[in-house]
Amino acid sequence: MNLNLAVISGDGIGPEVVREARKVLDRIAEKYGHEIHYTDLLMGGASIDVHGVPLTDETIEIAKSSDAVLMGSIGGNAATSPWYKLPADRRPEAGLLKLRKSLGLFANLRPAILYKELQDACPLRKDISDKGFDLMIMRELTGGLYFGARETKEVDGVMTAIDTLTYNENEIRRIARRAFDIAGKRRKKVCSVDKANVLDSSRLWRKVVEEVAKEYPDVELTHMLVDNCAMQLVKDPAQFDVILTENMFGDILSDEASMVTGSIGMLASASLNDSKFGLYEPSGGSAPDIAGQNIANPIATILSAAMMLRYSFDLDKEADAIEQAVSQVLAEGYRTGDIMSEGCKKVGTTEMGDLIAERV
Ligand code: NAD
Ligand code: IPM
Ligand code: MN
Repeated sequence: MNLNLAVISGDGIGPEVVREARKVLDRIAEKYGHEIHYTDLLMGGASIDVHGVPLTDETIEIAKSSDAVLMGSIGGNAATSPWYKLPADRRPEAGLLKLRKSLGLFANLRPAILYKELQDACPLRKDISDKGFDLMIMRELTGGLYFGARETKEVDGVMTAIDTLTYNENEIRRIARRAFDIAGKRRKKVCSVDKANVLDSSRLWRKVVEEVAKEYPDVELTHMLVDNCAMQLVKDPAQFDVILTENMFGDILSDEASMVTGSIGMLASASLNDSKFGLYEPSGGSAPDIAGQNIANPIATILSAAMMLRYSFDLDKEADAIEQAVSQVLAEGYRTGDIMSEGCKKVGTTEMGDLIAERV
């Protein structure tokens, strides 16, 4: 198969972890007889430095014409980086949001899985981590607070900032259908997370999700308020199969879920449109505090590349091979610093990439 990939290495640890994912993809291509063609694109701070803006129209066009996008992460340290002296719509994050919107990537899949080898890195009580867990956060990605009308102005002499949380029923229906489709191939449970005891947008969310549930009689639907969900994720993560939620709640809950798996460096992510096109990136950020030191965990990016093979190209065998190689390397006791525990062998970013590529 011929794969035309756009690659956005980004900022901070982005280029370091993307390099390892490419290493693993190249090994897959060699072993299974595929051709991968990479086109490097600039976004975020790296694009600001060259073009003065975090995302150019040309970059959007090239990304659109590719088969899928592999991405690291963008952004810098808000306190020290000159990028954050720019107006908000020209900062690194604005580029990522514009790309998600331009490519129609409304469905964000973030699988949080506790590998049994990583139980020591899980911060939960042993009786909880003993049960293991494998849950999928389905986060709506192109609506809500991130894309609502916003304004900062003086009201009666007082500086006031407004962000609006808007969802229409069509936006809710399409992400709900995607969540039920995915749950149907898993353990057939959707937990829809909202704040329907307070927010109008959540009450509409709940109503539409209930309508969609009628199309999927074999999938069980439950509802949970978001504050309770944050608590349940550490009390009993094994209760969840698919968590369906809006943009901002999903952003926060996915970072929380990542830590329960051991580290944000383990959490992959796929952002999909209404067909098979997707952008694949780790859920975490550019980690400026550890950039350039060869200590970042590349596994989230490598597992995101596996999601790309599975969701955009239907290459299930190849995706399985990457996931098994990751499990094997962990079982052999190799760890980056973020998931290190006693008796394990500490390796850097490039070594971890090498080990996984070798075992594919
Ligand atoms: P972050 O996720 O970058 O870092 C939080 C903590 O997790 C840091 O201590 C970091 O060292 C650690 N960490 C993150 N990824 C790791 C990895 N692969 N291996 C080991 N440790 C890892 O979050 P932040 O510090 O709040 O944000 C930094 C920048 O990243 C900001 O500019 C933010 O906007 C951006 N960001 C970008 C994305 C993205 O591009 N998708 C996602 C989240 C944050
Ligand atoms: C993520 C990030 C982004 C988000 C930021 C960088 C805009 O935190 O992908 O989780 O909030 O969606
Ligand atoms: Mn986030």
